[in-house]
Amino acid sequence: MKKKLISLVLAMAMSLTAFAACNKEDTNSDGAYGDKKVGVCIYQFSDNFMTLFRTELENYLIEQGFSKKNITIVDGANDQATQSAQIDNFIAQGVDVLIINPVNSSSASTITDKVVAAGIPLVYINREPDAAEEARWAENDWDVCYVGCDARQSGTMQGEIIADLGLDTIDMNGNGMVDYIMIEGDPENVDAQYRTEYSIAALEDAGLTVNCLDDQVGMWEQVKGQELVGNDLSQFGSDIEVVFCNNDAMALGALQAIQTAGRTVGSDIYLVGVDALTEVVQYVIDGTITGTVFNDHFSQSHSAADAAINYITDTPNEHYIGCDYVKVTTENAQEILDLVS
Ligand code: BGC
Repeated sequence: MKKKLISLVLAMAMSLTAFAACNKEDTNSDGAYGDKKVGVCIYQFSDNFMTLFRTELENYLIEQGFSKKNITIVDGANDQATQSAQIDNFIAQGVDVLIINPVNSSSASTITDKVVAAGIPLVYINREPDAAEEARWAENDWDVCYVGCDARQSGTMQGEIIADLGLDTIDMNGNGMVDYIMIEGDPENVDAQYRTEYSIAALEDAGLTVNCLDDQVGMWEQVKGQELVGNDLSQFGSDIEVVFCNNDAMALGALQAIQTAGRTVGSDIYLVGVDALTEVVQYVIDGTITGTVFNDHFSQSHSAADAAINYITDTPNEHYIGCDYVKVTTENAQEILDLVS
């Protein structure tokens, strides 16, 4: 009898442990926001930077007390029609808040109109809508905001990294100018526009004369970066002194092309990107990439989640929530690597 009782108690304890283990999968169903539904639209899952962003966003939301099963993150596949259908779906499901990384920033007014009409608060991330659109949020006192960094700052920092090398170092062909090529992200996106403009403005502000050999659109993609820089290296050869890439993914592609062409970053060519992807920061430490700019996905994703929580708890947000970039050179690359890896 005693034996039976012990095994019964044991069996009960085991099933309780199993129950607890199952529940671990969704530790926060009782969290502060366990019953709140969050819809997250990402413009494209295959984007390296947005992958870091969305992973951190989900982890942070769970830490704050959301339930994993109530956080739905969808891939817009770089197609606005696909993303618009996903937004309609989230509205039909009645999510409590939407976090949107638009495929086309120019579609923001249409998106805002339907999300606001549905009474759902909205946090835009990464791709900033234009000033006229942002002005509407304040004028109408809508629960809509943008979380991101000012891309002008990242462009300026890229230019400064190059300018700080000094003309004597950069000007290997001795024509008195900085001869460069520019590889741009999606030109619909202000990050691409500003980085292209402000990186060069920083060179000029430092008193350098610039010579643009080529300016091409690589759509933020590594493969395109490799292809475009490869073509330019065949066409312009040793005349190219600096390669500016609007992001690190394209800089990684550029590096492959540079190495294939038998050139060496730091001795006969210079290369800069933006984002501070782990791989790139390691290359900065090794001297294989001249520098990059840390696009703080921790701060941006946390601020986006905090803004969403504010809306859910009836606390207003500023309509623009900013964040600073950080210049990454050999001097601080190890520090940044410790932070991002
Ligand atoms: C990042 C890019 C990324 C883009 C997506 C930018 O801020 O630097 O790497 O592709 O955002 O919109």
